[in-house]
Amino acid sequence: MALEKCSAVIAWVCSSAEGASPRRDFIPTSIRMGNQVEMPFIGLGTGGIPSSEQKIEDAVRTALDLGYTHIDVSAGSHAVVGKVLKEYFETGKLTRKDVFITSKLPCSSHGTDSVENSLRTQLKHLQLSYVDMFLINTPCGFRIRAASNDLLATEAVYASITDTWKGMEKVYNLKLTRAIGVSNFNVEQIQRIYSSANVKPHNLQIELHLHWPQKEMVVLCQSLNVSLTAFAPLGSPGRSQPFNENKTFPIEDPLVLQLAEKYKKTPAQILLRQLTQRDIVVIPKSTNAKHLQENLESLEFVISDEDMKAMGKIKPRARVYHYVHRKKHPEYPFCELDDEYVWV
Ligand SMILES: NC(=O)c1ccc[n+]([C@@H]2O[C@H](COP(=O)([O-])OP(=O)(O)OC[C@H]3O[C@@H](n4cnc5c(N)ncnc54)[C@H](OP(=O)(O)O)[C@@H]3O)[C@@H](O)[C@H]2O)c1
Repeated sequence: MALEKCSAVIAWVCSSAEGASPRRDFIPTSIRMGNQVEMPFIGLGTGGIPSSEQKIEDAVRTALDLGYTHIDVSAGSHAVVGKVLKEYFETGKLTRKDVFITSKLPCSSHGTDSVENSLRTQLKHLQLSYVDMFLINTPCGFRIRAASNDLLATEAVYASITDTWKGMEKVYNLKLTRAIGVSNFNVEQIQRIYSSANVKPHNLQIELHLHWPQKEMVVLCQSLNVSLTAFAPLGSPGRSQPFNENKTFPIEDPLVLQLAEKYKKTPAQILLRQLTQRDIVVIPKSTNAKHLQENLESLEFVISDEDMKAMGKIKPRARVYHYVHRKKHPEYPFCELDDEYVWV
């Protein structure tokens, strides 16, 4: 690539990380990943704040009826999501190709040889023959090694993320998933996987919202053609209190409230659109029909470059998801700086 063209790409990536909108003339509803698979920009999150099985089932039904085409299946939700999907396929409301299903490798199934078994078990619960995206949920994995023939006498050993990635490549090549990626990895871990991979990661799912914008990660991934998914895109406002010194959730941010008024949208729609306009997929969780609808409709307007830049200038505050119980794991991904608001 000529030097000029290359600099133009870098300038574009950097300006998009700052918040400038790369697309003004049309509104795409999905992002095309490195392997040409399309991932819908708006998905339904099914994890995070605990909800009853019945609430998740109702939310999945409402979402599908409203036109959602993407479900992020969290640990424990496979059977309930599978039950609803089966019903929708059997009654002809949907076909398998109409929905994009993301699922994740749990921390206890790391290691090259465990991945296939774990995904096959999830597929059984989902009653599907493949998922659309399979992600390593956390770099802090381990595998269970039987210390003897007695299955109860097992020993947990760390598994390297590059070994686990080989298992991910295998399930991709077996077509048990249409795309593979990682979640909660840091910049160095992404680079490590990327440089050793035969199949490069198609997606990174991380906490990303107005108060945790992850600009460095966005620049890295967009320049490597690794698509991004924001979890907790609203900053997880259902929690009892935000983890930052200002004690505000992004949904209460004065600039967001001002822009909501200006665009005649809700604060949640402003937050989600800010992310999708940065080419980032969002998976807000909701069990409320009105919220589900407004989240889906958040794609239907454009925030001006000026307002995107103003939101991009808000200083990062704090993560919601720290996974402190994994702090001693050698692959714990988050640096001390991230934790300072929580621990001082
Ligand atoms: N990869 C990972 O490690 C990881 C970690 C955490 C989460 N996730 C995924 O990310 C998803 C989202 O994360 P999250 O649930 O913590 O955070 P979130 O989506 O930012 O926030 C969910 C909260 O926002 C509320 N909400 C949703 N839409 C709203 C709207 N339009 N207006 C006002 N409030 C609204 C919901 O309440 P109502 O139900 O009342 O609408 C719920 O309390 C999870 O469900 C999960 O699938 C992934």
